[in-house]
Amino acid sequence: KILILDFGSQVTQLIARRVREAHVYCEIHPNDVSDAFIREFAPKGIILSGSHASTYESEELKAPDAVWQLGIPVLGICYGMQTMAAQLGGKVEYSDHREFGYAEVRAHGHTELLRGVQDFATAEGHGMLKVWMSHGDKVTALPPGFKLMASTPSCPIAGMADESRGYYAVQFHPEVTHTLQGRELLNRFVLGIAKARPDWVMGNYIEEAVARIREQVGSEEVILGLSGGVDSSVAAALIHRAIGDQLTCVFVDHGLLRLNEGQMVMEMFAGRLHAKVVHVDASAQFLGHLAGVSDPEAKRKIIGREFVEVFQAEAKKLKSAKWLAQGTIYPDVIESGGAKTKKATTIKSHHNVGGLPETLGLKLLEPLRELFKDEVRELGVALGLPHDMVYRHPFPGPGLGVRILGEVKKDYADLLRRADAIFIEELRNTRDEVSGKTWYELTSQAFAVFLPVKSVGVMGDGRTYDYVVALRAVQTSDFMTADWAELPYSLLKRTSGRIINEVRGINRVTYDVSSKPPATIEWE
Ligand code: XMP
Repeated sequence: KILILDFGSQVTQLIARRVREAHVYCEIHPNDVSDAFIREFAPKGIILSGSHASTYESEELKAPDAVWQLGIPVLGICYGMQTMAAQLGGKVEYSDHREFGYAEVRAHGHTELLRGVQDFATAEGHGMLKVWMSHGDKVTALPPGFKLMASTPSCPIAGMADESRGYYAVQFHPEVTHTLQGRELLNRFVLGIAKARPDWVMGNYIEEAVARIREQVGSEEVILGLSGGVDSSVAAALIHRAIGDQLTCVFVDHGLLRLNEGQMVMEMFAGRLHAKVVHVDASAQFLGHLAGVSDPEAKRKIIGREFVEVFQAEAKKLKSAKWLAQGTIYPDVIESGGAKTKKATTIKSHHNVGGLPETLGLKLLEPLRELFKDEVRELGVALGLPHDMVYRHPFPGPGLGVRILGEVKKDYADLLRRADAIFIEELRNTRDEVSGKTWYELTSQAFAVFLPVKSVGVMGDGRTYDYVVALRAVQTSDFMTADWAELPYSLLKRTSGRIINEVRGINRVTYDVSSKPPATIEWE
């Protein structure tokens, strides 16, 4: 396995994802873990991440001594290269010239990392790489034993290596897709240089995970909140595979789900998997508490609170349950390094419905804790869940509660559900000619939003005065920033025509052409 030490970069998770894609297990830990921890982890290689700090800002931003004592390969990326240089006797200097964005890097000499890798060659025959750079400081003198591996005119030492010790470092970011050969470089380090075993495959993982769950739980009973989302579904399927009827799933229907969603969840888990599922129809209770409330954050709080209440009431009925299972995944548990550098402002309170307080007095079972989303999906398919369920767009915990602007009413929810289902159906049925993929696959999230305003229309001979629906479709890799999707006009036209004809009560459809930022993906 590979150890990634995080110095507080935004893109450290991408390093881990690339390593896992090479089928090598890896974990991210803060840069200041103890020497003892590193020895115990016993990695085949270590990767030092970037940071948004500079080497001089903080003494704490160093790699632990054990990194240099274990005699294993180390790859430094961006800041990781600078700290490698500084700690091993080279020189790093502050530079007021910030390089940010695309750069062309010349690959020098022959190292195992860069040998024969290039995007193009110059007239003189030099191998060049197209990369993504983002840094201010730079290495100005190589540490003893190192040789130059890469350079740009403004960054003469953009890569260095001491192959006798297996130390490699690059100033650019191989983990981002803008660096065209990035995946190849990381594969070379992980598989070729560190010689980690590529044995991390979801099909094999099931057996291991099942054995672990059985050992953890023994003969005790487990309760799990099923939401219809990918994570809780895969967790349920995995735990059910391990302990069968010792698992009880509680599916709380808050009345703000998509069309037929409740039915689909029941068919899949109770019907096909024969799991024990308690279906709680709490829609009246939720809608009752939401009556008269229009503030988005207030709505979120009410839905979250009610969810906990309903779930707890069910959990109390299951007196023998000793465990609470949750679909927590790796990105939720990674603790980032880079001392005091992270402080995100809360724009929306993203409490996940399903995030339960510890007042139940149950032990936590989180079998997906070490998996990334892509891996959770692969696991879901390996467990026999339908592809469409596992590759569904994300759906917010408060559901349609934040897609009906202002006060939530049952009538509004019913109209929205039908409009949304038509949009999704059209996205699934329309293929892009160039890629051959459906527009559902080409978008990261797509849905309809209910606008409680009325506008005038004409239908047949009559005047209508009905509600408006906005369609939203975005493309994004991390949901932090997103572009509105350039859907084909023909698709929008068909969708709008069908919604207005088939959903009585809606006479106007608009398409949202705002990107995030400054708009958010959801409207509330
Ligand atoms: P925004 O609207 O903040 O959404 O751009 C980013 C992603 O988060 C989802 N989202 C939520 N998920 N509870 C959730 O579980 C929430 O309250 C919530 N609000 C937004 C949104 O669907 C998108 O994927």
